Amino acid sequence: MSEQKNVVETSEAEIAVHWQEEEYITPPPAFVGQANLTDPAIYDRFSLDNFPDYYTEFAQLLTWYKYWDEVLDTSDAPCWKWFKGGKLNASFNCIDRHLAQHKNKTAIHFVPEPEEERVQHVTYQELYVRVNEFAALLRDTAGLKRGDRVTIHMPMSAELPITMLACARLGVIHSVVFGGFSANACADRIIDSNSRVLITMDAYYRGGNLLNHKAVEDEACTIAEEGGQKVDMLLVWQRYPGKYSSDSPPVPGRDVVVNEELKNYFGVRVEPEKMLAEEPLFLMYTSGTTGKPKGCQHGTGGYLSYVTAMSKYIQDIHLEDVYWCMADIGWITGHSFIVYGPLALAASTVIYEGVPTYPDAGRSWRIAQQLDVNIFHTAPTAIRALRKIGPDEPAKYNYTFKHMTTVGEPIEPEVWRWYREVVGRGEAVIVDTYWQTETGGFLCSTVPGINPMKAGSAGPGVPGIHPIIFDENGKVIEPGAGKAGNICIQNPWPGCFQTVWGDRDRFVKSYFSMYNKNPDSKDWRDWPYMTGDAAVQSADGYVRILGRIDDVINVSGHRLGTKEIESAALTVPEVAEAAVVPVAHEIKGKEPELYVSLKPGIQPSPELQQKIADAIVFEIGKIAKCKNVWLVPDMPKTRSGKIMRRVLGAISNKGDVGNVMTLANPEVVEEIQKMVAE
Ligand code: PRX
Repeated sequence: MSEQKNVVETSEAEIAVHWQEEEYITPPPAFVGQANLTDPAIYDRFSLDNFPDYYTEFAQLLTWYKYWDEVLDTSDAPCWKWFKGGKLNASFNCIDRHLAQHKNKTAIHFVPEPEEERVQHVTYQELYVRVNEFAALLRDTAGLKRGDRVTIHMPMSAELPITMLACARLGVIHSVVFGGFSANACADRIIDSNSRVLITMDAYYRGGNLLNHKAVEDEACTIAEEGGQKVDMLLVWQRYPGKYSSDSPPVPGRDVVVNEELKNYFGVRVEPEKMLAEEPLFLMYTSGTTGKPKGCQHGTGGYLSYVTAMSKYIQDIHLEDVYWCMADIGWITGHSFIVYGPLALAASTVIYEGVPTYPDAGRSWRIAQQLDVNIFHTAPTAIRALRKIGPDEPAKYNYTFKHMTTVGEPIEPEVWRWYREVVGRGEAVIVDTYWQTETGGFLCSTVPGINPMKAGSAGPGVPGIHPIIFDENGKVIEPGAGKAGNICIQNPWPGCFQTVWGDRDRFVKSYFSMYNKNPDSKDWRDWPYMTGDAAVQSADGYVRILGRIDDVINVSGHRLGTKEIESAALTVPEVAEAAVVPVAHEIKGKEPELYVSLKPGIQPSPELQQKIADAIVFEIGKIAKCKNVWLVPDMPKTRSGKIMRRVLGAISNKGDVGNVMTLANPEVVEEIQKMVAE
C-alpha cells in the first residue's frame, strides 16, 4: 500500500473518532403524507435473499418494446448485463410515452442568466417535435447511426437535453463534456471516444458575460486532429436562434449552424431505435487515479430503470412538482437527475444557464419563487457559497420546498442545519445522496418518506443497495465499530456503469480487484464493488462518507485526479516534478495546491509560476485552478525516491508534518514550510 493511501486513511479515521453522532430528525408529516414511498416493507422485498429479482420493480416503471429474458446475466462477470434481451428506447420513455396525457405539461423550464430574458417553457409536445427534428438532422446531415459516438460540449440550455435525447432516439452514444472544460480536455474525450461529430453552442452567459464558446471548439477540433481524431462535422446551436453570437465564424466544409439546417427538417419524425437493454446509452468521463480520464459506459435499460426509480422514490417527484437540480448537465448528477430520471417520470425540470449567485445572492431564491419550485437539489459547495454571501436572502422570497437534496461531497453538520432551517424553513425533508459517476444513481440515502434524517450522514444503502465496509485486508468492519474503512457494495445494481470505454482491464482492476478472490468466478457474491471512498457506518446502518482513499481531489463536488493536474504541470518544459495536494477550502471543500521542482539550471520566477498555473487551466479548465503554485528546491522524498505527498499536504494545511527524519532529504521540509508560511 502506498504512503498516500495510508496517510489519507489515518487522517480520515482520526476525523471519524472526533465526530459525534448527530440526532435523528423526523421527516415532516406533511411530506410523509404525500410521499411516493412510505412502506418500510420495501427493505424486506429488496433484501439480498430476493436479489436480483427485486430490481424488476424498477424496470417496470419503464415502457418496453420487449420484456427481458433474464434479470441479470453474470456470464461476463463483473461486466453485468441487466434485463438481458429486453428492448426499449430512452427517448421514447422520456418523451413519447407521456404525450397522450401530458403533452401540454412543461417538460423543461429554461432560465436564461440575464434576468430581463423571459423563462422558456418547453412542453412535452414541443420537446417531442424538437427532438425528432434534431434526430433527423443527426441522421441525415451528420450521417450518424446506432452505436456511433458523439461528443457534446454545450452549456446549460434546453438544447442540451434535446441533443442528448435525439442521440438516444437514434441509439447514438453521447459523451457530454462539462461546458466549462477547456478545449484540450474536450479534445481528449473526442479522441478517446472516436467522435467524428462534435456538437456545441456558439455562446452562453456566465457571470454577466456572453462567452464565446465556439472559439473553444475550434481549438478542440485542432487538438483532436493532432491527436489522431478528425472532427468531420461541428454542429453549432445558436444561443439566440436566428442570430450567430460568436466572433469565431463557422468553418466552411466542417461547421453546420444547427438552427439554419433544422429548417430542412421541420415536421420530420424519427422512429426510435429499439435498443437492447445492455446497449450503451452514454459515456461520462471522470477522473481516475491515473492521468487519463476514464469513459464510464452506462447502459440503456439498467441505467434508465435505476434513475427513474431513484427520481420517484428518493427525489419524490410527482407530476405536479417543479423540480430544480442546480447541477450542470455535464456531470452525472445532471444526466441522471435533470434529464433522464425526471423526464422518464414526466416531471417538470428546471435548467438554469448561469451562476446561482448572479447578479446577487438572491438569484436562486427568485428563480424558486418565480417558478414555484418545490424540490431543490444542489451540492454542499453551492450551499456554503449561498450561506456565505447571503445568509438572510432565502427569508426574503416566497417559495416552499417540500424536499431538498445535498450531493457530491460530505456536508458539515452546521451547513446541513443552515440548509434545513434557512433554505428549507424547517419544513423540507433533506436527502444526502451519496453516489458516483460510475454508479449512475444513488448508493446511500435515507428514503425521505420512511427514514429519519441525520445531519452529515448520507443514510443507509438505498433499497436494493447493500453496503459493506472492509478494512484494507478485506476484513469486514461491523456497523457501530467506530472505525473507518473502504466502503464497497456487496451486490451489482442496474445503474452501475458497464465498463470503462475501451478498457475492460482498467474497469476490473480499479473497481473489483482489491476484494475479489477468484477472478474466474461468475457469482456476483465474489465481486464487491469498491467505491474508493473511506466511510464509517454507525450501528443503525447510516453511512458517513469521509472522502476518497485514492488520488482524487474533490473540488466543489467535481473530481480531479491528482495525476491529471500533475501531468498538466509537466507539459511546461521547465518542470521536473509536480505534486498536488488537497487544501481545505471554506466554500469548495477542497482546493488543489501544487508543488513543483524545476529542471536543473532553471531559475524560479513569478513568470514561470504563472506559466504553470496557466498550463493547468489550459489542459483541464478553470475548475482545476490551483490555490498556489510553489516552486520548491526539491520534493520531500523517501529513500526509494517516492514523493511524500503526505508531508506536502501537512504543510499546505498547516498541520503536523510528523517525523521526517527518515526522508532522503529532510532539510527540504523546513525550507518549504518557510516558503509557504510567508
Ligand atoms: O467521494 C465521494 C463524493 O464524490 C465522489 C463521486 O464524485 P463524482 O463521480 O463526481 O459524482 C458526484 C455526484 C454523484 C464520491 O466517490 N460524494 C458524492 N456524494 C457524496 C460524496 N461524499 C459525501 N457525501 C455525499 N453525499
